[in-house]
Amino acid sequence: MEQFLPSFPTPKPLVIITPLLESHIQAAISCSKQHGVQIRVRSGGHDYEGLSSISYQAPFVIVDLVNFRSITIDDVGNSTAWVQAGATIGELYHAIAKKSPTLGFPAGVCPTVGVGGHFSGGGYGMMSRNYGIAADNIIDARLIDANGRIMNRESMGEDLFWAIRGGGGASFGVITAWRIQLLPVPENVTVFMVMRDLEQNATKIVHRWQYVSGKIDKKLLIRLFLRRARSSRDGKITVQASFVALYLGGIDTLLPLMQRSFPELGLVRSDCTEMSYIRSTLYLAGMNGMPLDILLNRTWSLMSYFKGKSDYVTEPISKTGLKSIWKRLLEHPNEMNEMQFSPFGGRLSEVSESTTPFPHRAGTLYSIHYAVWSYERRKSVFDGQVRGIRRFHSFMTPYVTKNPRSAYLNYRDLDLGLNNKGNTSYEQASIWGLKYYGINFKRLVHVKTKVDPSNFFRNEQSIPPISGSA
Ligand code: FDA
Repeated sequence: MEQFLPSFPTPKPLVIITPLLESHIQAAISCSKQHGVQIRVRSGGHDYEGLSSISYQAPFVIVDLVNFRSITIDDVGNSTAWVQAGATIGELYHAIAKKSPTLGFPAGVCPTVGVGGHFSGGGYGMMSRNYGIAADNIIDARLIDANGRIMNRESMGEDLFWAIRGGGGASFGVITAWRIQLLPVPENVTVFMVMRDLEQNATKIVHRWQYVSGKIDKKLLIRLFLRRARSSRDGKITVQASFVALYLGGIDTLLPLMQRSFPELGLVRSDCTEMSYIRSTLYLAGMNGMPLDILLNRTWSLMSYFKGKSDYVTEPISKTGLKSIWKRLLEHPNEMNEMQFSPFGGRLSEVSESTTPFPHRAGTLYSIHYAVWSYERRKSVFDGQVRGIRRFHSFMTPYVTKNPRSAYLNYRDLDLGLNNKGNTSYEQASIWGLKYYGINFKRLVHVKTKVDPSNFFRNEQSIPPISGSA
């Protein structure tokens, strides 16, 4: 397959529709069908390959859910919320905190991510070891299908309701709202960020982290960021490991827990801060101490261009393996800006791999997120970085899952494969389908074939119907 590179300038939509009512979405579907154009549904617009905003295959319109943002919280008894698909997770966290300081929801870290794409693709966050991914905590949804029918969980049936909780919404219809289960959080939680470089035993600590992070108390999630950095001691370039954690409890219980299970990190009281749960969402998003209302800001403009890729690890990487990764990071500075290791275990492994289409459950030690980005708006610079991250991903082959080499749908990666402009066979789509969905891919194809046999809702990496007439 010809390697995919971002296209400059990007293809433009015929029109951007910003519906106010579900009936406007029904009209958009009907018109698009009549005129033979594709629909791209956009909630937060964070798709890594821009599939909510561009189409490489056909004339298209964008249905942007920016006006579908209401959040209704029912905190009496078994606390739940209806959140419209165009809301961001920051808006959701903000609304929950206004209602109660002891309720939360296990979704991602960056507040500007939209719940439409994020929940339908899984949704991993700093409470996932305790409560699972966002999709595990969805109890109802509203969806408009290719025939313009508005359905909820009861009327869409359990197969379709299953598919949109990890299989991606874009293959099945337009999700207008989710009903979610809110979950208890302590009024105060503890956060820390501890950095260790190669001269501070980073290899030994990272090696140990692989054994500890998925088994430790599930109220504790320690994420690991790896990047090249200049040592503050001697100014030399080194590999820096940052351990960033959320603990759903106080410092007094965290410190003995860390002493027992992960003394190698050398965590001390002064590394830790207790704060309200909602403040921890700002801390973890790199906005510590900022006003809470910043969670309502929908725009995120840190960088111009970005490419991400993902992997899963089921066997700890040896110290020798880690050293060769450090060597690669140091010797090939254009291949990688940052790697992120996110631990699994806890609640994530208590759910079976077919309960939702997100298959990465028991046996997964951690996921890897690779990222390159550029502030420079020059195609040649970014193309070089994209080629670099591909080489780095290839270099990582011995250390990660095989047959299939798994990937995370929410870290969309068109390098894994593309649909044809016409029909795409099951075998062809399996190339990326098995990576994203594992054993669930077959069922997703069956659901797609049942609910959208003419393949109206499609994109470059959507799930094809078995004999779709695209
Ligand atoms: P966007 O609107 O681009 O949609 C993504 C996909 O879903 C597209 O195919 C789109 O058509 C479809 N879609 C969107 N809304 C839909 C709807 N209402 N109905 C049907 N289909 C719909 N992930 C994670 O698990 N944990 C994390 O911490 C983070 N952090 C993070 C930070 C940053 C800066 C970025 C850019 C991304 C992440 N992600 C993440 C990845 C994120 O979960 C992923 O990109 C989501 O798909 C984004 O959802 P949006 O609604 O914002 O995207």
